[in-house]
This record gives sequence, structure tokens and C-alpha cells, in this order.
Amino acid sequence: MKKKLEGKFIVIDGPDGCGKSTQAELLMQWLSNQKIPASRFRDPGGTAIGEKIREILLNPEHLSMSTETEVLLYMSARIQLWQEKILPALHEKKCVVLDRWLSSTYAYQGWAGGFGVEKVIRLAEDCLDRIWPDLTFILDVDIKTASGRLNRQLDRMEAKGDIYHNKVRAGFLKFADEHENVFVIDAAEEVEKVHEKILQIIREVSFS
Ligand code: TMP
Repeated sequence: MKKKLEGKFIVIDGPDGCGKSTQAELLMQWLSNQKIPASRFRDPGGTAIGEKIREILLNPEHLSMSTETEVLLYMSARIQLWQEKILPALHEKKCVVLDRWLSSTYAYQGWAGGFGVEKVIRLAEDCLDRIWPDLTFILDVDIKTASGRLNRQLDRMEAKGDIYHNKVRAGFLKFADEHENVFVIDAAEEVEKVHEKILQIIREVSFS
């Protein structure tokens, strides 16, 4: 398993409230138990610049932010994360676990926000030397279950409302349909069951 996961890039993504941070944490614990060197980052974030961009993006006062601005800010944070953190970690043969990635820009801005999913991918191809992870998990969850998990003050993206978030969910499912090495997992299930499903896929998948 160590050889298999060395230098691999694994993304856990999905709608707000899908439980991806919990699953990323459990996966990190499992990797550590397996003695597989690993690093975890969040997108947007993970670098000094990226964390500042994250604050701008999620600030509930920034209600007038356009979808185009969102796309470019998310992409900027991601470029910085890739160059400063992900690429060096992959070179050190670490297994990199990401909370979110380009699949989020595809679902949120590209699909729900109407920017266009092809445009999102074209922009990413122009800005990053690698855009696709080795493996992506989409934790799929209905709006009711998801909003029940967000029992705190909502940030600007979370506060966009049910119509937007239903489109986000559809965007993630479309993303999974159209791309390879993307697995949809029912995240309304118990935390342990979702974790087991992730491990099962990691054990069974063969990386090209
Ligand atoms: P997080 O709190 O789950 O880390 O994500 C921050 C928020 O940003 C979340 O509501 C999803 C949203 N987001 C986008 O809209 N587009 C993106 O490209 C990314 C990475 C996140």
C-alpha cells in the first residue's frame, strides 16, 4: 500500500456539509497508521496568500462579488497552493490529501454560478501544469442533511441558498460523470461507513 500511495494526489470534495473535512482527517489517520508519509491541505488556503484570499472569498460582507471574481480568486489561491505546497510534497513522494480542488470550481462557479464548466477547465489548464488528481471522492449529500450539519454562522458561499446549493450538488454529479478516477460516495451514511467506503476504493483502484 505504501508504494501504491507514494506521490499520489487524492481529493475529497462535495457540497457544503458533506463531511469532507472529517473524512480527510480520518484518511490522514489511516495513512499515518499505515506509515505512509502524507500531507493534507485545504483549497482555498494552505499558504499565507491562499488563506488571505480565502478570507476575502468567504467574508459574508462581500455580497457583491461576481462569479468571475470568484473564479479568478479561487484559481489564484489554488495556483499558490500547487506551487508552494502540493508540488514539493509530491516530489517528496508524499501522499497529498486535499479538501476540495478544481472539482469545486467546476460545481460552484462553473455549473451553479453559470460561468461555464469548459471555461473553468480551460482556465485551469492555462494556469496549472497539472490539473487532475490521481483520485477524487465526491461526497454526495442532499441539501437537508447537509444544512443540518452546518449549525453555525454561514460564510458567504454557504449562505447562497438552496437553489444554488442544489445546482452545486448537480454540478458535482455531472463532474463525476464526465471524468475518470472520480468516485461518488453517499455521504448521508454514518461517518465510519463513508470512511470504510473510501478505504475500499483506495485498496481496489489501480492507478495508471
Ligand atoms: P470549505 O469551507 O469547504 O473549505 O470551502 C470553502 C467554500 O468555498 C465552500 O463553500 C465551497 C467554496 N468553493 C467554491 O465555491 N469554489 C472553489 O473552487 C472552492 C475550492 C471552494
